[in-house]
Amino acid sequence: MCGIIGRVGEGNALETLITGLENLEYRGYDSAGVAVKNGTGINVEKRSGKVSELKRSITDEPLQGAIGIGHTRWSTHGPPTDENAHPHTDHTEDVAVVHNGIIENYTELKSELAESGHEFSSDTDTEVIPHLIQHHLDCGLDNESAFRRAVDELEGSYAVAAMIADERVLYAARRGSPLVVGMEDDEYFLASDVPAFLEYTDTVVYLEDGDVAIVDETGVEFTDLEGNPVERHPETIEWDPEQAGKGEYEHFMLKEIHEQPTALAQAIEGRIEPELGRIDLTDFEPGTFDDVDCVQFVACGTSYHAALYGSVLLNQAGVRSRALLANEYSISAPPVDENTLVVAVTQSGETADTLSALREASDAGAQTVTVTNVVGSTAAREADETLLIRAGPEIGVAATKTFSSQAVMLVLLGQRIAQDVRGETGADPEALLSDLETMPDRVEEVLATTTAEELAATYEGSRAYFFIGRGLGFPVALEGALKFKEITYEHAEGFASGELKHGPLALVTPDTPVFAVFTGEEDEKTLKNAAEAQTRGAPVIAICPPDHQAALVADAHLEIPDVDSDLAGLLANVQLQLLAYYAADRLDRAIDKPRNLAKSVTVE
Ligand code: F6R
Repeated sequence: MCGIIGRVGEGNALETLITGLENLEYRGYDSAGVAVKNGTGINVEKRSGKVSELKRSITDEPLQGAIGIGHTRWSTHGPPTDENAHPHTDHTEDVAVVHNGIIENYTELKSELAESGHEFSSDTDTEVIPHLIQHHLDCGLDNESAFRRAVDELEGSYAVAAMIADERVLYAARRGSPLVVGMEDDEYFLASDVPAFLEYTDTVVYLEDGDVAIVDETGVEFTDLEGNPVERHPETIEWDPEQAGKGEYEHFMLKEIHEQPTALAQAIEGRIEPELGRIDLTDFEPGTFDDVDCVQFVACGTSYHAALYGSVLLNQAGVRSRALLANEYSISAPPVDENTLVVAVTQSGETADTLSALREASDAGAQTVTVTNVVGSTAAREADETLLIRAGPEIGVAATKTFSSQAVMLVLLGQRIAQDVRGETGADPEALLSDLETMPDRVEEVLATTTAEELAATYEGSRAYFFIGRGLGFPVALEGALKFKEITYEHAEGFASGELKHGPLALVTPDTPVFAVFTGEEDEKTLKNAAEAQTRGAPVIAICPPDHQAALVADAHLEIPDVDSDLAGLLANVQLQLLAYYAADRLDRAIDKPRNLAKSVTVE
């Protein structure tokens, strides 16, 4: 949801800015721009379209200068035009600003500034910020005070980076949108997310809400909005820069699908002792959840499907639990108290809807846990406890490996909660954990033997694609459909198998393949539901083990190894990821950056 990059140091900033934008493009890709301070002023180059288009437009006349800011946009206010692209400047072009978030009071600010003679050239909320800074400079404030005063007047959410023509300093502030500083000897970076500068440094400081950072080539000063110093400690990021590249793969998504064995191995490493049936989640010692009487999961999109998976497991283990869409939470959440555990499931840890549900639950007195991939993310910092999924950077907009890692971590967390709350898990922990330990190999097996590419070709051009599943197969069916629609732009829907006959069956024709997920939970019923579709002419594709009855009656099948029913859905999901990938590839879609989407959605 918009990517910000800033750089101060020796030599030219441009290349670093462009690389940073390329690495951040998953956050938004409808326009891009850079501003570089040269000897005399600030030069801005910005364009609608992707970073590659911006790059093409500046090769002839490079922007020279050691300090600069850049932005890749996912539009909120105003369409993706050249004018609306960031950086924005004031009328004197002495102040340049990039921004992620939403300025809620921008219409009031804009009309006040317009009355005092400021002219605006874009439809964005962001453009008020450079004008506001310039206004305070005109009133006689120094650069730092003008920046602070302007930021203090903003309502809404923001990560802002600004540059003022007469000095080699970057000013940054955050409230509600992520911002991180990277440090390397005499070179400093600002970014919305670490992959922007990971190839230059792994030493970072995450800004907290209300922080201001003043960055020049000698160092970074952190203060609050009033200018009082605040102490922020550097952290080391353990992601390998190579992990953030595409390697031999044509798309990040395919690479990330293939990284799942490693991601799962990392997720469970040191956290299970199968021979003892024991889980070692260091932050969640036995007894942590003794006083919990119900669990609410809050999440969006793919993470919601992982949350649903976790919730089905907990209910099956006898613990009251619900998975709730975070964006509906404020309207329809069941009440919480100090015995409620609210688990925010969010890959990025920055999804505005999820953060808002987490805050609401926390304010109401619930205990909170965040399950996330990003150390230091807002959700990680705001929850009482954090469980890291350790999936490594995920760049493809469509979440793949993070879903698998989230679901596996929710299997473990669910076991711990059930043991604490009920004194037992309702499952055979040794068998489950042994199967869990083999998951990386099982996923490898699926990747090596999949026939998803052939099936994608067979069913290309269908009118719609349906996905059904029961129990733990239901969230997998929903996720299969989401992945398919997201990257192919084809109509795809997921249903609980038993729901098909309550309405959706009317959509079923010979031109609507039905992908049925079998997880070993009441499979005979799912088979009947699939047969009801097959009778109406729909081809049925079973996702099941090779000797499963469904494989014999279905029109085609995608094979998964026979594992514990708590885990089978995760293998089926890998097959569905591959199916979506190959279907989208045949249609030549922008797989890593599907239209209208962004990886990290920091607006409600
Ligand atoms: C779909 C996808 C999104 C995210 C959702 C929540 O492939 O990636 O649906 O799952 O935007 O994002 P996080 O997990 O960052 O909260």
